[in-house]
Amino acid sequence: MLTIDPRCREQPYGDSVKTMNYLRNCWYAAMWSEALKRGALVAATLLDEPLVFFRDLMGQPVAMDDMCPHRLAPLRLGKLLPDGRVRCGYHGLEFASSGLCVKNPQGNGHIPPNCRVKTYRVVEKHTLVWIWMGDAAPDESLIPEFSYLDANSGYDVGRRDTITMDTHYRYIVDNLMDLSHASFLHDGLLGNEETIFADIQVRQEGPYVFVQRDMNNVRPPLLRDLLFKRDGANVNMWQNIRWSPPSAVLNDIGTYAPGTDRKDFSGQLGCHILTPATADTTLYHTAAARQGPLGAVAEEGDETFKARIAELRTFAFKEQDDPMLKAQLENIRKHPGATPRMLAIDAGPVRCQRILDALIAAEQKKSEPLKEPVP
Ligand code: FES
Ligand SMILES: [Fe+2]
Repeated sequence: MLTIDPRCREQPYGDSVKTMNYLRNCWYAAMWSEALKRGALVAATLLDEPLVFFRDLMGQPVAMDDMCPHRLAPLRLGKLLPDGRVRCGYHGLEFASSGLCVKNPQGNGHIPPNCRVKTYRVVEKHTLVWIWMGDAAPDESLIPEFSYLDANSGYDVGRRDTITMDTHYRYIVDNLMDLSHASFLHDGLLGNEETIFADIQVRQEGPYVFVQRDMNNVRPPLLRDLLFKRDGANVNMWQNIRWSPPSAVLNDIGTYAPGTDRKDFSGQLGCHILTPATADTTLYHTAAARQGPLGAVAEEGDETFKARIAELRTFAFKEQDDPMLKAQLENIRKHPGATPRMLAIDAGPVRCQRILDALIAAEQKKSEPLKEPVP
């Protein structure tokens, strides 16, 4: 068990919301691949920067600043032309997918030197579009592992959602890595009073921090019961949540009958991949898949069942977590110097935030991007 670094007690909780605290030499999930359709410009603000995404003629994703170099009009109000160029909607300058201005339809057609839009490296992996917004050379090996989302993974992945959360992404990292809040904020749905007492184990493996809880012979919260036998009988269950910097989380849950083998379980893998939009808003990309050899057969048909599970998850995040986190952020903004009084349940979140702080500090000292977490 890790102990809490006392330095964290001296650090105002409001420090996390400073815009300068974005880690830039890393990958952020901009959107689900399915959300980036051919022939369309898709606007997204990430790390406080307005961007526009589209697919080039080969179908490859492209990201560029949402700002024309002429008079700084937003390109999202322009058009993606059939030849793959982006045309500004204000005076018609056209830009190739490299960002270079290749046509001025006005007057003599002269194109000023350095007339280009900034572009970013974009990669599709695990059915998500990832973007690298830092100055260092992009390293695709740093994209976190979410292979269960892949088309050929063998998992039946449910609805892919992106929820806009009304808080800074680092407070959602705290929320996710603090498994104890499920008993209160998600009482009856993801936890209950019988799950309060479970031990919390924190460990670090490579770039990942894990927080694990085992809860034995407890009344099942609704989601667990739905994914298991739907009889309300007591269960053993685990939750093992994995974070990697800056803000990608994999949640592995399993449920099995007391007195039986742990490998005869029914569970779920869920991703909670956070991308800061602004200092006050976060894009929360999430999708879950069943796992394990056991579990109730969906009575209503699998698609209906998957949709119900997706609805329950969205309800938990948007209707239960988000109002709490939004109100928490309002308090933090009113009291930027206030320091949190940490509990043992905060060991996981504190570990993640320490690593993130160290990575950001190293980056701001112009260090090379780090592959290994800072101990
Ligand atoms: S602002 Fe884009 S062409 Fe004028
Ligand atoms: Fe939650």
